Amino acid sequence: MCGIVGYIGDEEATGIIVEGLRRLEYRGYDSAGVAVVRDGKTTIRRAVGKLKNLDKVLLEQPVHGTLGIGHTRWATHGRPSEQNAHPHEVDGITVVHNGIIENYLQLRQNLVEQGRTFKSETDTEIMAHLVAVETNKGTDLITAVKKALAQVRGAYAFLIQSEKEPDKLITAKNASPIVIGYGEGRNYVASDIPALLEHTRKFCFLKDGQMAVITREGVKITTEDGEPVEAAIRVVDWSPVMAEKGGHKHFMHKEIFEQPSAIADTIRGRVRMEDAQVHLDGMSLGDVTKLNRLIIAACGTSYHAGLVGKFMIEGIARIPVEVDLAGEFRYRSPVIDEATGVLAISQSGETADTLAAIKEAKTLGATVFAVCNVIESSIARECMESGGVMYTHAGPEIGVASTKAFTTQLVALYLLAVYLGRARGTLEKARAQELLTHLREVPQQIERVLSQEAALITIARRYHKARDFLYLGRGPNYPIALEGALKLKEISYIHAEGYSAGEMKHGPIALIDEHLPTVGIATQGPFYEKTVSNLEEVKARDGKLIIIATEGDSKIAATADDVVLVPANDPLIDPILTVVPMQLIAYHIADLNGTDVDQPRNLAKSVTVE
Ligand code: G6P
Repeated sequence: MCGIVGYIGDEEATGIIVEGLRRLEYRGYDSAGVAVVRDGKTTIRRAVGKLKNLDKVLLEQPVHGTLGIGHTRWATHGRPSEQNAHPHEVDGITVVHNGIIENYLQLRQNLVEQGRTFKSETDTEIMAHLVAVETNKGTDLITAVKKALAQVRGAYAFLIQSEKEPDKLITAKNASPIVIGYGEGRNYVASDIPALLEHTRKFCFLKDGQMAVITREGVKITTEDGEPVEAAIRVVDWSPVMAEKGGHKHFMHKEIFEQPSAIADTIRGRVRMEDAQVHLDGMSLGDVTKLNRLIIAACGTSYHAGLVGKFMIEGIARIPVEVDLAGEFRYRSPVIDEATGVLAISQSGETADTLAAIKEAKTLGATVFAVCNVIESSIARECMESGGVMYTHAGPEIGVASTKAFTTQLVALYLLAVYLGRARGTLEKARAQELLTHLREVPQQIERVLSQEAALITIARRYHKARDFLYLGRGPNYPIALEGALKLKEISYIHAEGYSAGEMKHGPIALIDEHLPTVGIATQGPFYEKTVSNLEEVKARDGKLIIIATEGDSKIAATADDVVLVPANDPLIDPILTVVPMQLIAYHIADLNGTDVDQPRNLAKSVTVE
């Protein structure tokens, strides 16, 4: 997720902007830059890597002025490089942007046809061109921005300045955050509150579809069509540490609540409903009808995503899938040929075992590709020359226990399954449209699950002293039982075991007594009745039962001690919903027990040793 800071006032802008960017450093980024306007001229400084690299550039070549914008970039379109770093300038218009412009290929082509040339590979530069096309005709900046916004589709938080109108900054937002900070004779803009806390406590959060014109004297908010909007100013008393976490107690909690937007970002720009096609930018899988087998290699939570992915890809695209723990894969002398695809799943893109697995697979002649969250990471680079990379757009994940990276991986795998199904002819257009429509419902459905947090806290209170937990699920929810148990173990240090509900009678049933809480997933679908019978076996032995079921299930309360309801969806999408209560139960149990939720003992976010 990119960071944005802007300043207009009477002091030197650069220091304020760079300090603001530094406060956003925790979000992660790959390059940074500032642009300052003075005496009708824009000066830009950019550097790849950490902010200290930009500091060095600014020390050697300082820039002065009282109007400026800055950016830390988390690459989406175009690799991390100085050229792709923001701000982007075209004919005196400078733009920074957070988000993804969905129709960028089309807009870029139109602009190329008008004779415009591009200096970067980013979607952001398009916006600078669109505004410049208008201002070059003599249109004022505000009108030019409105006209440009009317052409852009996607997620954005833009911050724009012009050397011809150095008395204002313009910002506009859709689906990416923007906050305006109010000062005296000076005003500020940022993507997030921590960037501005040192200067002001008075903020206004821009809403989707709104834009603002910020001058030294004041702020005018309107809709993108120019309808005036009254600013809802809030005084925030967060400490800097609280602000980094967006007011949440832990990063993990923040990231659980970011899932609806992270999932929307992962779907955005990839679905074409008219012909039910999935567009996989960055993938070059070649003729997928020649693939006769897929192997997924991953570790930890990403491995669990792979286990769900097997159900999705086999169910939708009818390709046989094996899922391997990456650390086991290369030591078992895997049988691989050119018709085998090997898919690595990794949040960080740096996990040593997963990297080693795909290197091995490549040597054996397989097409390797990845679902990954970090642009240009080692695994992403390894796959680029082969089958390519599909990025999850979860933004940086800071909590060691993976949450939003997992659900966005599931979304990416579902999209991949639909893509493969369409390309191999196993999925009809009408059915694909249905599946994609269901997928688009997920962000809003997760909001509904998150709104039940109070009930999940009550459950956590009841069971946080338990010594062991059992998690049960079947079919695509069996991996969610594994993931639920892993989440609890990781952050609360309570022993937990995930099992297939059907397999329980072959072992774990011996553990059940009144002291053992069991979390069972019994949502509607092909496994419902069988799972309920398995859970009845737990109840018959006095086990405590927390059941995750589907909204509208009135019978399940008779079996369970506690019920958590999730919205109904396609059985292959269901795991993306059922894992959310698992995350919150684990989080609140850990929090009640006072463990270090974001950095649990002995664990690392990314394990770069074998
Ligand atoms: C570590 C992390 C887990 C993660 C796993 C795989 O164990 O603590 O949260 O799932 O590595 O990481 P990756 O970055 O490859 O998904």
